[in-house]
Amino acid sequence: MRLRGAVAVVTGASSGIGTATALRLHQAGARLVLHGRDTARLTALAERTGGRVVTGDLADVAGIPALAEEIRSRFGTVDVLVNNAGVGWAGRFGEMTAQDVRRVVDVNLTAPVELTRALLPDLLDRPAASVVFVTSIAGRTAVAGEALYSAVKAGLDVFAESLRFELAASAVDIGVVVPGVVDTEFFARRGKPYERRSPRPISALRVADAVVRVAAGGRAEQYVPRWLRWPVLVRGMVPGVYRLLATRFGGSG
Ligand SMILES: NC(=O)c1ccc[n+]([C@@H]2O[C@H](COP(=O)([O-])OP(=O)(O)OC[C@H]3O[C@@H](n4cnc5c(N)ncnc54)[C@H](OP(=O)(O)O)[C@@H]3O)[C@@H](O)[C@H]2O)c1
Repeated sequence: MRLRGAVAVVTGASSGIGTATALRLHQAGARLVLHGRDTARLTALAERTGGRVVTGDLADVAGIPALAEEIRSRFGTVDVLVNNAGVGWAGRFGEMTAQDVRRVVDVNLTAPVELTRALLPDLLDRPAASVVFVTSIAGRTAVAGEALYSAVKAGLDVFAESLRFELAASAVDIGVVVPGVVDTEFFARRGKPYERRSPRPISALRVADAVVRVAAGGRAEQYVPRWLRWPVLVRGMVPGVYRLLATRFGGSG
């Protein structure tokens, strides 16, 4: 699909991968709807890109129909939806509170599902449209110390693929971007820095380039970096070997 002139909604646009994606979509000529909670950052990004700001807390999933309605009434149409906003949680699963569990599930899984559901009629109304989900390598490999985060990203991944099959005959294309470790505030925000020596964090702009490729249509998935598909392949083909390696070399990020 043509991104020039397309109305593109980016969640989590106030930081990291979302900001980088907004900048890349702006370069591609898209008209941006920038979503997040941090009004100051979103406003600064809107000034750079000519985008419009819509604020809201995605943990409040009951508010998502109203968010979709605000987008519909202010912008008329939606051509691209980038479900990028997310939160991490790292530590032993037994130490999570019920509130932690709810937030990780709601922001990473329920919110993108609900926002997609609410905007789907608008997307189906367009001659061509796309939805991109930013998932995670954690959802494809399983990571110790990130059990729930890995699970919700896996859920989002399978949701996206199922929806892609379901909408195959429509003009709405669905794809996922599967990043590894990305140099953003994600780790500081989750309260546990990334401490492993490898893989080295990659730039948010590299992930953004993949998001734009998927948003343009025709691609079901993009790993960033691309070599990440190898551990996933090993896990699928020889799961016993993968488990041994993951137990020996794995651990939380
Ligand atoms: N960084 C990595 O290594 C990595 C790896 C794989 C996947 N990912 C995924 O990539 C996506 C973007 O992460 P990032 O690395 O760019 O992290 P980030 O810099 O922490 O950005 C997260 C974004 O999500 C938004 N967000 C968080 N909670 C929200 C809420 N309750 N309501 C509305 N917006 C909310 C934040 O906006 P406000 O602060 O304005 O609320 C922010 O813009 C996430 O889905 C993450 O899981 C990241």
